[in-house]
Amino acid sequence: MEKVTVKTFLDMKDRGEKIVMITAYDYINAKIVDEAGVDGILVGDSVGNVLLGYRSTLQVSMEDMLHHVKAVARSEPRALLVADMPFMSYEPSNEYALINASRFIRAGAEAVKLEGGVEIIDRVDALVKAGIPVMGHIGLNPQRINVLGGYRYRGRTDEEAEKLIEDAKALEDAGVFSIVLELIYADVAREITRSLNIPTIGIGAGPYCDGQIIVFHDIMGLTPVKLSFVKRYIDLYNIMKEATKEYVEEVRSGIFPSKEYYRVRK
Ligand code: KIV
Repeated sequence: MEKVTVKTFLDMKDRGEKIVMITAYDYINAKIVDEAGVDGILVGDSVGNVLLGYRSTLQVSMEDMLHHVKAVARSEPRALLVADMPFMSYEPSNEYALINASRFIRAGAEAVKLEGGVEIIDRVDALVKAGIPVMGHIGLNPQRINVLGGYRYRGRTDEEAEKLIEDAKALEDAGVFSIVLELIYADVAREITRSLNIPTIGIGAGPYCDGQIIVFHDIMGLTPVKLSFVKRYIDLYNIMKEATKEYVEEVRSGIFPSKEYYRVRK
């Protein structure tokens, strides 16, 4: 199968084909999802709360992200590899955004994702002009949680819906190749999707988006809280815990290692 590029995303929208994205934070995670056939892998800053034990994504640094982007890039995925730009890695200035985005590209990412709408257009414009593909992200922006005042659905009022449409249009005009719509009422997400020539990738934004993205550890049951828009395909947390308990039990009782797991000289 052919390598997925940003052009593939645009072609898929034209053909009406659903785009499938998922997060991955390390080499083996990336191998699993790539072999499963996803179109895009996001090394999300959700790595902070999911893997690193931070309270939120606000604690995630460039160094944290680079470590994980490099690990995922080593798997040489067929899927498009997108790196999430963490909090304050692009806000200060265009130059700062360019320096940090180029570190991700050198680490193996093929595009970067930035949270925000109209207010970050200058940054998007600078990155696109420098030849760095950008994915937008509107709706719930976890990096702005202290301003938004909580993890709630966006677009409830006409005013909020119009602002989201305006943000999406501005991002498209600035040259992003797709936009993540997070926690947006489905009818608003449909309107945004219809009004754009670039694909929308939804998470908690209903079925009318051009594609979907989800956090790998959420659908595998590896995160403590089950969010309302997440379907859990397997309860890996408990499966792995039970397997570990079995190992503990077998070592303590002398069952492991049994004959087939060790060698003697004669
Ligand atoms: O960090 C992340 O995993 C994300 C997705 C939820 C879109 O931004």
